Amino acid sequence: MSLGRIGWDAFQALSLEDKGPQLQEDGRLFHILFAQQFDRASLDALGRLATRIRFIAKSKAGMTFLQGLLDHRRAMLYFTQPSTRTFLSFCAACEILGMKLGEVRDTSTSSEFKGESHEDSVRTFSSYFDLIIMRSHVGGLAERMAWVLSHSERPVPIVNAGSGRDQHPTQALLDIYTLQRSFEDRGGIDGKTVVFVGDLARGRTVRSLAVLLTRYEGVRQCFVAPPPLRIGDDVLAMLDAAGCEYEVTTEFKPMIPRADAIYMTRVQDEWDQVKGESADIDTSAYAFTAEDLERLPPRAVLMHPLPRRKEIAPEVDGDPRAVYWRQMRNGMWIRCALIAAIFGCAGALGEYGDAEP
Ligand code: NCD
Repeated sequence: MSLGRIGWDAFQALSLEDKGPQLQEDGRLFHILFAQQFDRASLDALGRLATRIRFIAKSKAGMTFLQGLLDHRRAMLYFTQPSTRTFLSFCAACEILGMKLGEVRDTSTSSEFKGESHEDSVRTFSSYFDLIIMRSHVGGLAERMAWVLSHSERPVPIVNAGSGRDQHPTQALLDIYTLQRSFEDRGGIDGKTVVFVGDLARGRTVRSLAVLLTRYEGVRQCFVAPPPLRIGDDVLAMLDAAGCEYEVTTEFKPMIPRADAIYMTRVQDEWDQVKGESADIDTSAYAFTAEDLERLPPRAVLMHPLPRRKEIAPEVDGDPRAVYWRQMRNGMWIRCALIAAIFGCAGALGEYGDAEP
């Protein structure tokens, strides 16, 4: 399969699940656009690769080895939407693998300001770089750019680092990696209850993670939000189609004792139709407080893609179940694994020294 051999209309006519195989090259991950392109086997393999890289990186010799893997490659970060963690963790991941970096974060300093189309900009980047990692407020832009590049003379991979309100697949990968690590001594993610809280209508991290959780057996997904921020019917239809159990409720506190993982999110007011309209939504009942720690099961984990506002009280940070800082660091390792997989380095990583695991 290859995106370069299919027309745009025919590609658009495919379901997201069917688009997945088109995004591979030579049986390997190439463009990373949406969560649907990952199955259980690829999630397990990426998690193992991230852990391996994490262990290799512990020594100077290991770090030197990692930095030799892709020192002949260059990555472009094209981030036209604000970002701290995703941007920096991708930079760090590229640097760990030895890649050189370029960036455009502000289109007022690039030729887009002069009226250049996204297509022409991305084709320009592909002339100088071997990988384009992009974040945009335009839903579907990464997908379109991947198709454009696959039909150009320099088909370099595109990684979607957040597109519109739609998808954030690499955040979902780091969330899965965090869950894999959190539950590794308790039968893994299968059979767990994951409670999503907050702005579920517009949170792209939730949308992507909800897809990946369908790859596990018997996971129950609970969606807790005030009515205006309720989870989209398309996500529920996706869960129905996958035969997954879910629950939609406006009541947060009764869910806390039932959770294996709680995934808090902030109000995504940058998507307000009318500026400031979200300020009228009462979200005070959708915050996790220090008192809530008493109701949280002893081995449950509290997650957040960050940045947070008032959804999690800072006093909660010191509790071992608050894993959001670890989750953030996991992002760097899973992004290393993803880039290594795209460039076919998994074999070399597997053969390196006698690093465990
Ligand atoms: C998320 C995003 O940008 O979608 N953050 C992130 O990537 N870590 C969620 C958010 O901004 O609330």
